[in-house]
Amino acid sequence: MLNVSVLTDPGFCPHSLNKYASIMACGNGYMGIRAAHEEDYTQQTRGMYLAGLYHRAGRNETTELVNLPDITGIEVELDGVNFTLLSGDIIEWQRELAFANGELRRSVIWRSPDGKRYRLESRRFVSLDQLPLVAMQLAITPLDAASQVVMKTGIDATQTNTGRQHLDEISVRVFDQHYMQGVYETQDRAADVVISAFCQLSADSESCFTAKNRRVSAHYCLTIAQGDTVTLDKIVWVAHRSDKALSQESFARRALADLKVCAARGYASLLESSSCAWADVWRNARVEVASAVPDDQMALDYAVWHLTTMTPAHDERSSIAAKGLTGEGYKGHVFWDTEIFLLPFHLFTRPQVARNLLRYRWLNLAGAREKARRNGWPGALFPWESASSGKEETPEFAAINIRTGMRQKVASALAEHHIVADVAWAVVAYWQATHDDTFMRNEGLTLLMETAAFWMGRATEVDGRLEIHDVIGPDEYTEHVNNNAYTNYLAWHNVACARRFMAQFGREDARFTENATRFLTRLWLPEANSDGVIPQDDTFMAKPAIDLSRYKAKAGKQTILLDYSRAEVNDMQILKQADVVMLTYLLPERFTPQQCAANLAFYEPRTIHDSSLSKAIHGIVTARCGDTEGAYAFWRDGVAIDLGDDPHSCDDGIHAAATGAIWSGVIQGFAGMQIVEGELHLAPSLPAHWRRLAFPLRWRNATLHFTYENEVLTIETTTPVTLTLWGKTLRVSGRKVCAYKDFLAPANGTATTEGRDDA
Ligand code: BGC
Repeated sequence: MLNVSVLTDPGFCPHSLNKYASIMACGNGYMGIRAAHEEDYTQQTRGMYLAGLYHRAGRNETTELVNLPDITGIEVELDGVNFTLLSGDIIEWQRELAFANGELRRSVIWRSPDGKRYRLESRRFVSLDQLPLVAMQLAITPLDAASQVVMKTGIDATQTNTGRQHLDEISVRVFDQHYMQGVYETQDRAADVVISAFCQLSADSESCFTAKNRRVSAHYCLTIAQGDTVTLDKIVWVAHRSDKALSQESFARRALADLKVCAARGYASLLESSSCAWADVWRNARVEVASAVPDDQMALDYAVWHLTTMTPAHDERSSIAAKGLTGEGYKGHVFWDTEIFLLPFHLFTRPQVARNLLRYRWLNLAGAREKARRNGWPGALFPWESASSGKEETPEFAAINIRTGMRQKVASALAEHHIVADVAWAVVAYWQATHDDTFMRNEGLTLLMETAAFWMGRATEVDGRLEIHDVIGPDEYTEHVNNNAYTNYLAWHNVACARRFMAQFGREDARFTENATRFLTRLWLPEANSDGVIPQDDTFMAKPAIDLSRYKAKAGKQTILLDYSRAEVNDMQILKQADVVMLTYLLPERFTPQQCAANLAFYEPRTIHDSSLSKAIHGIVTARCGDTEGAYAFWRDGVAIDLGDDPHSCDDGIHAAATGAIWSGVIQGFAGMQIVEGELHLAPSLPAHWRRLAFPLRWRNATLHFTYENEVLTIETTTPVTLTLWGKTLRVSGRKVCAYKDFLAPANGTATTEGRDDA
């Protein structure tokens, strides 16, 4: 069994309740549940979300991921005293999330203000093998004397998205002595949610059920002898549908029947099945590192945990929210984060999931076409933020100035068009890594053609050349510019790939080819100056630069906006996040190593890294430029975004893209993995305090495993593959051991002799 990390919560602290509720959230891609404590705290935000379940609460509201009725809350009264860690003393504390099997556990010994001690142990998991299933247990042991214990738990539909209610309660029912059920419908009638819960106590007690004010609850009251333990088991089935094939009654009845099967098995057996599913995840995706800093392994396990729990692998109609399923930040919307930061992990560990994520865009093409058409352009303009329908969901306004009542417009939906090319980039990366011709023939080509058509219509002719005007590149501190380098190069790549793949798949269309060729020969691609620096856009180089060190020291907090207005920031050389550096990361073959280094050196001092999407990309490019230690520093900063000391770093959910970047930073940074001209390249170079790096990788029809230790790379593959290692191309079958020193000679074409083939 792999020794997968355990994430711990160092101690109860009201300030960091929500950070830990986010980073220790449990989930399975179908649902996510914040790691809120069973007992309530005013600061604590509970949350349970289903992937793809969005709703708009009313006028002037934005479509958002629905926060469902709560099932995790348990009120406990011990000898007449309400159990809360805000009073009394915590004598022992342990709280952890075991990534290996997905169990969140807390064990406390609490001394009540009355001086009596109790042990309370709770555990829960969201099943990875039965998606609608959640199981929890709470065990109470009075340590000093026999105690009178009262517990209340159930389904609490008073839960809202900070006040916005999305669900109508249709019915609540209690069945037998153990079952409760709430049937809810989104207020637009589009979806039903049926929550069924089974509760059972390990000892006899007085019990009753109540249903009042959107809460259906079971109440237990009993005496527990000193030293005895009584355990409450709660097993919950969260069913959801947006098709109405069955009547609501039949759907609810079926949910109850499913729950009964689970309840009969009990917590331990259900956990065991889920653990087996997790074991598969770790086997197929775990990155192992032997580092002098133990937290490095923790970060990698944390990343794989969340990359798994946030991704609706079961459902191509939904994609990954910017905060996964761990909170309400960004309203649960889907951004370019998915294709650029999250898709690579899936592409190289479970490519069918990457395919689903692309199919989500394909299924939502209608919305993208409509957005393009409304703006007078051809093709598909994907929404900057999307939910389930593919319509633009970006809120029109951001913060309000409460003195003037004026609201700040959000410009991204109007101009952050690079998302179109980002989707196309991901389609190409997917095909390169899988050679999935069926996908390319059906969804892939359509996506490439529609996105290419958009760019061809979007470009403006100026003095005989084509330019792309009025855009926002990835750097959102620089708005409404012409010829953002990232956008122009990615658009070029988009159109070039559309033309190439249409030819390759026999789908040439004379008019399209002619337009594409014209576009490709005439689109302005901002040129590198004599130092190799590419101007971010037409006006960037003429703007003044200021010393950003004090803002960089508070990266992620957007403190620059406390000193300067957005307009002022726009008029200076200030980057929120990687922009040209991002370009060199995505299209490495277009730029020389010197150009990559020059752009990194020029832009990094001008970048505050106020977006969580920034540092990791700088880290990867830094690693590619040969500065492994510098790359490690960026990587650690990327890890600290959610796992660092800031108690409020992710109150409203983890930074999903930053999680993807933890994986990418190691695989694309330190292992030097990249796709160049469609082929797999590796060039491992580890930070000095890393002794060993091992990881699995899927490439086309091969499952590979790499281990790099003592400057020797051991490659194991199920199927022969061709790859380029430290600049030399070789064919690997079975197992091959390659010493770095053997690759140091100048590369002169294809090497076939490096490395040792083992039987
Ligand atoms: C970043 C975007 C990103 C979004 C969601 C913003 O702060 O600037 O690039 O897509 O957050 O993560």
